[in-house]
Amino acid sequence: MCGIFGYCNYLVEKSRGEIIDTLVEGLERLEYRGYDSTGIAIDGDELDSTLIIKQIGKVGALKKEIAKVNPNRDVTFVSHCGIAHTRWATHGEPKQVNCHPQRSDSNNEFVVVHNGIITNFRELKTLLLNKGYKFESETDTECIAKLFKHLYDINYQNGHELDFHELTKLVLLEIEGSYGLLCRSSHYPNEVIATRKGSPLLIGVKSEKKLKVDFVDVEFPDESNLGKPETPLIAANGKAIHSDDNNITVTTNKKNPSAFLNGDGNSSSSHDDNLLPIAANEFNLRYSQSRAFLSEDGSPTPVEFFLSSDASSVIKHTKKVLFLEDDDIAHIYDGELHIHRSRREVGASMTRSIQTLEMELAQIMKGPYKHFMQKEIYEQPESTFNTMRGRIDFENNSINLGGLKAWLPAIRRARRIIMIACGTSYHSCLATRAIFEELSEIPVSVELASDFLDRKSPVFRDDICVFVSQSGETADTMLALNYTLERGALTVGIVNTVGSSISRATHCGVHINAGPEIGVASTKAYTSQYIALVMFALSLSDDRVSKLERREAIIQGLKLIPSQVKQVLKLEPKIKELCENKLADQKSLLILGRGYQFASALEGALKIKEISYMHSEGVLAGELKHGVLALVDENLPIIAFGTRDSLFPKVLSSIEQVTARKGHPIVICNENDEVWMEKAVDSNLETLEVPQTVDCLQGLLNIVPLQLMSYWLAVNRGIDVDFPRNLAKSVTVE
Ligand code: F6R
Repeated sequence: MCGIFGYCNYLVEKSRGEIIDTLVEGLERLEYRGYDSTGIAIDGDELDSTLIIKQIGKVGALKKEIAKVNPNRDVTFVSHCGIAHTRWATHGEPKQVNCHPQRSDSNNEFVVVHNGIITNFRELKTLLLNKGYKFESETDTECIAKLFKHLYDINYQNGHELDFHELTKLVLLEIEGSYGLLCRSSHYPNEVIATRKGSPLLIGVKSEKKLKVDFVDVEFPDESNLGKPETPLIAANGKAIHSDDNNITVTTNKKNPSAFLNGDGNSSSSHDDNLLPIAANEFNLRYSQSRAFLSEDGSPTPVEFFLSSDASSVIKHTKKVLFLEDDDIAHIYDGELHIHRSRREVGASMTRSIQTLEMELAQIMKGPYKHFMQKEIYEQPESTFNTMRGRIDFENNSINLGGLKAWLPAIRRARRIIMIACGTSYHSCLATRAIFEELSEIPVSVELASDFLDRKSPVFRDDICVFVSQSGETADTMLALNYTLERGALTVGIVNTVGSSISRATHCGVHINAGPEIGVASTKAYTSQYIALVMFALSLSDDRVSKLERREAIIQGLKLIPSQVKQVLKLEPKIKELCENKLADQKSLLILGRGYQFASALEGALKIKEISYMHSEGVLAGELKHGVLALVDENLPIIAFGTRDSLFPKVLSSIEQVTARKGHPIVICNENDEVWMEKAVDSNLETLEVPQTVDCLQGLLNIVPLQLMSYWLAVNRGIDVDFPRNLAKSVTVE
């Protein structure tokens, strides 16, 4: 939900002003993830001190606060680690003390920025209060900072000087919940810790010199060496609050090569049978197996690290990134990045590869548009094309989805398919469910991830579970994915963000290739998810002669979608005028749809709610007479989908029920449809005409007028379209 950003330079001299600017700019790019407060922590003027500057509001407010604090911008640092945060409140209302970074004490000994929720924070807080710690915020994060200090102090008092990552392991033993977090400390100057569980985190690497490695070895916990409390501070059930400080002892091999390596520089398990063997490295390891980033000649390398919850804030600086996995602890110091695991598991990957991001900075900027949402609506001719690019052969009416190909036989054998998602992504599943069932002849159920988990729905080994997510990081969807993985189901990801948690954790899948979506309201991701799901359904039926004709019609329909979307976008002036003259002062709006268009009605209503704050409801047209009709009068604005498909006569009758009660609906219909042209004259209804396509694809065109409508309703009301109140782009908390 929140955005976190960190910047470390080593042997690259930077002034404090430059460091602040880098952190602030990183936050600006993350603002869409959450934006009720922001803050940074950097080196202060005293030796090993930390300066925290934070403020309620967007990054602009933080900039003003920095100017007010007026730190000396000219001091230079050859090595420095700064951390920063933009927050969407989960615990504690947005006020100064609740802004991140959170700190352990008034000397800022440990300072933390955190994305996620610590579920046992109340127990931890009680424990720490009992130990005499004074809390200044209502956040769960403050517990983490204080826990760092508490565990540091008791070990120090017992004569144990821990490495920063060893201390982190002890902290992680105590906390439950989800986190992506960065920690810096005056006890570990110029070092930073980054660790994650259920919350995204990546590290960009920039160096003028050619780096010798394209992967980082992972060090597994050396449990016999790393002492841990025999009785944890908090028991697993979260209830018992017990601690025996003397039990927390650690003997450490801090920066002592001989404890880890044998004479030839290869990793050795001779000192500790529990240490998992790690492949020998081609260069000398000085401190531990996780050493990375040596220059080719082995000399210290000037290097900069950019840590972030999102690639969009790193891309300007470097395209070389490493995605952390859950339970990774990344430790950066002296220009080196080391990755340790907070827990041991059999079969876990022992390397993290450095990947090259393909996203361009220009792609994530607004271009000529006023808002990202507007830009993304207008990108749909291109984004829908990109979803299909290289995957559909329109000449031979065939589909090739590389990420699914090998799995199709297994999927075809399934007895049922469960689609699981949240919000707009859930609507894309609803929109394509019927065509999925028709083409695959497999029953498909569509589930909201949170409800699916709440019900503890049964899942079987031969189930196919399809997870649809723009961000690939939505906590509810991710939890549902883990739930189905634990039960042995085959999982498929339909995801926009390459390298995201869902795309990595699923067995197979399709990247929708819509490009970065920054506007909080999802638009182009919806149409691309829709197309990806239709392509998936088409792939499942490519061995069925009985479906040949239908498949061909759909594939040829898909070919025209990008240009037809372009045509629908020309409705903008008319929609803008409707918003200004007819809808501007309304409080509520109904959207009617049936069959394929029920999903369009739900999605349109969601867009209007979230962006314009106008109450709107998507109604299944067939349900009108079962209650909703009572709302209809000459004043209530109604939008109805009256495009042609097999249910057209029924939709027509529903709309007639509305006009009979003096309602004046706005009907989204096909171009030059005589029925509506006549009615427009007789019944005082308005029409918005869209091109006709195959029934199961019509929703791709019908949703665009509603995206534009939600946009203009919001703009007319003076709402900051890209930052609607109370919402964040990526919902990484339950
Ligand atoms: C609405 C919207 C949300 C998301 C939902 C799931 O415009 O964007 O409803 O669709 O939070 O997010 P993803 O698709 O990232 O899993």
